[in-house]
Amino acid sequence: MGYKVVVAGATGNVGREMLNILAEREFPVDEIAVLASRRSLGTEVSFGDKTLKTQDLDTFDFTGWDIALFAVGSGPTKEYAPKAAKAGCVVIDNSSLYRYDPDVPLVVPEVNPEAVEGYAKKNIIANPNCSTAQMVVALKPLHDRAKIKRVVVSTYQSVSGGGKDAMDELWNQTKAVYNPTEEVEPKKFTKQIAFNVIPHIDVFMEDGSTKEEWKMVAETKKIVDTKIKVTATCVRVPVFVGHAEAINLEFEEFLDEDEARDILREAPGIMVVDKREDGGYITPVECVGDFATFISRIRQDSTIENGLNLWCVSDNLRKGAALNAVQIAETLGKRCLKKG
Ligand SMILES: NC(=O)c1ccc[n+]([C@@H]2O[C@H](COP(=O)([O-])OP(=O)(O)OC[C@H]3O[C@@H](n4cnc5c(N)ncnc54)[C@H](OP(=O)(O)O)[C@@H]3O)[C@@H](O)[C@H]2O)c1
Repeated sequence: MGYKVVVAGATGNVGREMLNILAEREFPVDEIAVLASRRSLGTEVSFGDKTLKTQDLDTFDFTGWDIALFAVGSGPTKEYAPKAAKAGCVVIDNSSLYRYDPDVPLVVPEVNPEAVEGYAKKNIIANPNCSTAQMVVALKPLHDRAKIKRVVVSTYQSVSGGGKDAMDELWNQTKAVYNPTEEVEPKKFTKQIAFNVIPHIDVFMEDGSTKEEWKMVAETKKIVDTKIKVTATCVRVPVFVGHAEAINLEFEEFLDEDEARDILREAPGIMVVDKREDGGYITPVECVGDFATFISRIRQDSTIENGLNLWCVSDNLRKGAALNAVQIAETLGKRCLKKG
C-alpha cells in the first residue's frame, strides 16, 4: 500500500519538478491529485508517462489524502495549508510561511532527518529556502568534524528561484537587448536582469540586509546549530536554473583541505568535483536536472586561523525545493507514516 499524494502548485516551476522527482524516485504513490489556481483548471501536467489535469486548490477536499506537497507561495499557503492539515493530510510546504514556527520542523534530510518526527504538532513540515538547503548539506559533515564558528557566504542565484514569470522576464529582456524597439521593463526584478546582476532578493530588513539573507542566517541556525554565525550577501544573476555560492568557513578546530575534501566525498547528497585545472569545477549549467549538491574549489583560507573556502552549486528547483520536499516525504514515510 502506498500514499495518496497531492501536489499543490503543479503548474509552477517547483510543482512540475516535484512531479518529475516523485516519478523518478518511484515514490510509492497510490493516487495523485494535481492542484493549481482556478486560472489553470484542466491544464495538463506530466507525471511519469501519465498526463494529469489540474484541479482547483480552492475547492479541493483533502480528507483521506496522506501527504500534500505545497508550492504555491506564502499567500495561498496561509489559506489552504491549515485546511489540508486539519483534514489529516501532512503538508510539506515550500514557502517561507512556517519555516520559523517552533512547532513546525524545518528539514533537510541529509542534515536533520529526525526533526520530521515533530510533524504532528501542526501536521506541517517546512522546506528551507533554496540557498540554505544546498549550503547546509555542505556545512553539516564539516561542522560534525571541526565545529563551524562563522560562515560568510555570497550567492549567485538563478532567476528560476523567482518562479516562472521571473524566467520569462530574463528570456524576454535578453531578446529585447538585441531589439531595442521591444524594451522589457523590470517587473519581477527591481532592475534589468539580462546581462546584469542584482544584489537584492526579497524585501529589505531594518538592518540593511535583505529577507533572503536573513533567511539563510535563521534557517542555518534552525537546521544545523543555533551557535553558528552566518553573514550572507544574496545576488540574482542572469542564469535560468542552478544556484552557486562562494562559502568561507571559520572552524573551532583546524581542518585540512584534503581532509575536508575526503569528508565531503563521503557525505550524503554531495558530489565533489575539485580538480585544480581548467574546468575542474562545476557551474550552474552543469548541475541542472541532477540530485547532487556539487562542491568544488575547496581550499584553505590562510587569512584566518582555521579557515576554508569552497564553491557550492546545486539545481535550486531540485535540492533547493522539489527534491528536498520529496526526500522529506520519503523520510516521513519511513520514520512515521510507514506505508509503501
Ligand atoms: N523556485 C525555487 O527555487 C524555490 C525554492 C524554494 C522554495 N520555493 C517556493 O516554492 C513556491 C512556488 O515557487 P515556484 O517557483 O514554483 O513559483 P511559480 O513557478 O510562480 O508557480 C506558482 C504555482 O502556485 C500556483 N498558485 C499561485 N497562486 C495560487 C492560488 N491563489 N491558488 C492556487 N494555486 C496558486 C500557481 O498556479 P497557476 O499556474 O494556476 O497560477 C503555480 O502552480 C514559492 O513559495 C517559492 O517561494 C521556490
